[in-house]
Amino acid sequence: MKLEKLKNDPRMPKHVALIIDGNGRWAKKRGLPRSAGHEAGARNVETHVRYLRDLGIKNVSIYAFSTENWNRPEKEVTFLMEELERWLDRYKEEYSKEDVRIIISGDMNDEKLPLSIREKAHKLMNDTKDKSGFIINMCLNYGGRQEIIKAVNELIENGSKNVSMQDFEKHLYTADMLPLDFVIRTSGEMRTSNFLPWQTTYSEWLFPKKTWPAFTKKDLIKALRAFMKRNRRFGAIKG
Ligand code: IPE
Ligand code: IPE
Ligand code: MG
Repeated sequence: MKLEKLKNDPRMPKHVALIIDGNGRWAKKRGLPRSAGHEAGARNVETHVRYLRDLGIKNVSIYAFSTENWNRPEKEVTFLMEELERWLDRYKEEYSKEDVRIIISGDMNDEKLPLSIREKAHKLMNDTKDKSGFIINMCLNYGGRQEIIKAVNELIENGSKNVSMQDFEKHLYTADMLPLDFVIRTSGEMRTSNFLPWQTTYSEWLFPKKTWPAFTKKDLIKALRAFMKRNRRFGAIKG
């Protein structure tokens, strides 16, 4: 079977990230409120996470809410928070008995976040911290520059001097994750929007035109095949 072949291909990425952009535009095009786009987008994330796991990918990162997304109208932020909380509940339901670790990257002590989200996020991370078969990294209230500053401040606090890259990486949310191979940002926007700046320095990027809720399994397979054709040189001369 074709998918089995893909799954066993050594060129497959091990860590894939999704910047799930275009929910609002997807809804607008259909005459629906932006919230309908976020709902459809959240469901589509679940489908794709399941699919990536079935394909043997070990780590998945999802950009769910950025530190800059607080600048949206209050009504939309409130809806997004409700959706994100349902999302955490569903992760708990679906994965708590499996060998799946959930990492939430972002400040989970930020009082801007509803208390229920902060509590659920801490619990979910703690309950799954010893698992490693598959890692879902949900970037929620995440900002890449903030993450770097957080790491620097932690190093200062513990009196570190002459910090190595390895020491530094231990203070990132992704410390226990594999290198990030492949980032897919939907909706045609070609920018990083403060997403994992340290981790993406040598990632491959793809910017499909489709909005996130319209992005199908077929599109994902196409994206993975595109990744597998890339010649990753890491500064050396290869291929
Ligand atoms: C991405 O979709 C979802 C989040 C930022 C949470 P958008 O809401 O950014 O949708 P567009 O880009 O406005 O279409
Ligand atoms: C990036 O999308 C953040 C998420 C997908 C959560 P945005 O829609 O917030 O990014 P900009 O504002 O277009 O850069
Ligand atoms: Mg957007």
